[in-house]
Amino acid sequence: MYTQALNIKDMAAAAEDSAFDARFQSRVDAEEKIEPNDWMPDAYRRTLVRQIAQHAHSEIVGMLPEGNWITRAPSLKRKAALLAKVQDEGGHGAYLYAAAETLGVSREDLVEQLLDGKQKYSSIFNYPTLSWADIGIIGWLVDGAAIMNQIPLCRCSYGPYARAMIRICKEESFHQRQGYEIMVTLCRDGTPEQKAMAQDALNRWWWPVLMMFGPSDKDSQHTDKSMRWKIKRFTNDDLRQKFIDATVPQGQYLGLTFPDPAMKHNDRTGHWEHGEIDWSEFKRVVAGDGPCNRQRMKQRRDANENGAWVREAALAFAQKRRARAEAAARIAAE
Ligand code: 3HC
Repeated sequence: MYTQALNIKDMAAAAEDSAFDARFQSRVDAEEKIEPNDWMPDAYRRTLVRQIAQHAHSEIVGMLPEGNWITRAPSLKRKAALLAKVQDEGGHGAYLYAAAETLGVSREDLVEQLLDGKQKYSSIFNYPTLSWADIGIIGWLVDGAAIMNQIPLCRCSYGPYARAMIRICKEESFHQRQGYEIMVTLCRDGTPEQKAMAQDALNRWWWPVLMMFGPSDKDSQHTDKSMRWKIKRFTNDDLRQKFIDATVPQGQYLGLTFPDPAMKHNDRTGHWEHGEIDWSEFKRVVAGDGPCNRQRMKQRRDANENGAWVREAALAFAQKRRARAEAAARIAAE
């Protein structure tokens, strides 16, 4: 009898949950934004925390490959633009950690999970920047791919993430332009050696950039749910195709050759078809065995440890100010 009573209670709770679920889904379907204090399914919250945290970590780790060239930028103008861009990426990380915090997690925990290997950052930031042309390529292709993926995120169902993405996309658009302008300078106004350097950078970055969009749709674990919840608006393969279609004419204008002998235009579909992506490389890099994974994680770990005193000092200062304000309020009230 006791067990029966429990079952009835469980059934009532399940019915209540499914009513909440249905109401939640109808709000999403009606394009209403979900806000931090609204009811949401646990799995929706977990998916957002996973994706936003991974995105935030990517922005911060993404500062490292380009940061490597700040001291070696070829002119003052280039150095100023690169500095501004790298600082923007730091800002994007900060907005995104703040957006994740609205879901009830702390930035400190998220960073710890990255350092413990429980969370990821984008595969693309595990490749080295060997020449100045790599900085052009990162702006043109890596930021170009990031924009293609992130513009639809401005319409994500979760309000704080969608709003953070609007500003981020504006800045990413400047990043893409500065990268393409470097490529134009190297390829159209540059020497044959500079053009060869640009081609070499394209050869090394093209395939890893295509992998940025994530596994093919048949292997993507999260796409179906994320599309239903309108976190994602397009599948990984759809975004990859849109990116290729937009990028190939830009590469042709530069006079560069894409390192894909199977690439051809399909006049019937209007799309550029591409060759097979080496998913074993993607899996290896995501599992921690890319060319720079160890170096990037060491740099993140060192930065976290070296910055500990700044966080402690900021916290102590904030506590001191709060105590002073409280004491002043007490005196005023007496
Ligand atoms: N690198 C590392 N891991 C990746 C990945 C990539 N390029 N693409 C997918 N994965 C991981 C996923 O996280 C997931 O692993 P998990 O379950 O352990 O988290 C697994 O591969 C399966 O992939 P799914 O397609 O099922 O995962 P998602 O539905 O989350 O789709 C995504 C992947 C398209 C990257 C999506 O998470 C997304 O749109 N994220 C937001 C954008 C983002 O994070 N961009 C990173 C680059 S930021 C950037 O480029 C900064 C700019 O300034 C240059």
